[in-house]
Amino acid sequence: MNNLLANKRGIIFGALDERSIAWKVAEKVHEQGGTFVLTNAPIAMRMGKINELAEKCGAQVIPADATSMEDLENLVTQAQEILGGKLDFVLHSIGMSPNVRKNKAYTDLNHDWFSKTLDISAMSFHRVMQTLYKQDAMNDWGSILALSYIAAQEAYPFYCDMADAKATLESIARSFGYHYGVKNKTRVNTISQSPTVTSAGSGIAGFDKFFDFADEMSPLGNASAEACADYCLTLFSDLTKFVTMQNLFHDGGYSTTGITSQVMEKWGE
Ligand SMILES: NC(=O)c1ccc[n+]([C@@H]2O[C@H](COP(=O)([O-])OP(=O)(O)OC[C@H]3O[C@@H](n4cnc5c(N)ncnc54)[C@H](O)[C@@H]3O)[C@@H](O)[C@H]2O)c1
Repeated sequence: MNNLLANKRGIIFGALDERSIAWKVAEKVHEQGGTFVLTNAPIAMRMGKINELAEKCGAQVIPADATSMEDLENLVTQAQEILGGKLDFVLHSIGMSPNVRKNKAYTDLNHDWFSKTLDISAMSFHRVMQTLYKQDAMNDWGSILALSYIAAQEAYPFYCDMADAKATLESIARSFGYHYGVKNKTRVNTISQSPTVTSAGSGIAGFDKFFDFADEMSPLGNASAEACADYCLTLFSDLTKFVTMQNLFHDGGYSTTGITSQVMEKWGE
């Protein structure tokens, strides 16, 4: 790969620290010649290390709460000014559930927090795309991506209300993908990623166990954050121009594996 993303401009949401999937994407987009603005919630600016990443990638940071239309409008306007034109790629790498954080069981949800989960982790994707759409901020044949998890399709009790958020997120990708395809040939997809050791990932109860389980249930093993970033790059590049409105599994084969010999052996123990 050499300069796969030369002359491409974008926005990367969600780099908190060096474990973040968005962090790895930013590093790799930079390596491949793309330019971008980094953004995260104002609170993450204080807690995270985004400025370190910005310096490394020669990027500017614009704080934006992804649940605020005002912040997003300002972000999209400023990003185009800073980067010198319309955008070619956007990564939505945002997830947060107050119910998960406070260890609430799915059968005992706080519904105000449930609304927050949906707003932050799913509706924000619609907010971002609506803002881009209204400002006519995407170049033709651009690519918009969000990150999902298989709990959108199957029951994962520990994933709590995030499962509903991911199902909504994937639906928004299909619904907006239609409109953005017609308007700008812009593609919209979600990547359904393996369990990954990050701040959001390891905040889920029992994460270590289901990380190991998924690893043993995947013929290729769990996909790492770096590998996920590589996949994001292909979807931002011109090599995937006609892939749109898809949920793309990036999970080492987990989603289509019934059982593995490794797991069978464990049951024999
Ligand atoms: N880690 C995993 O196991 C895993 C698996 C599949 C999918 N994902 C998804 O990948 C994405 C990135 O998560 P990650 O694992 O890199 O963890 P992470 O904690 O590094 O990233 C989550 C980001 O969301 C940001 N965020 C939270 N509330 C926000 C708000 N109101 N406005 C703007 N940003 C906000 C956080 O500041 C953080 O940067 C999420 O959508 C997550 O659900 C993660």
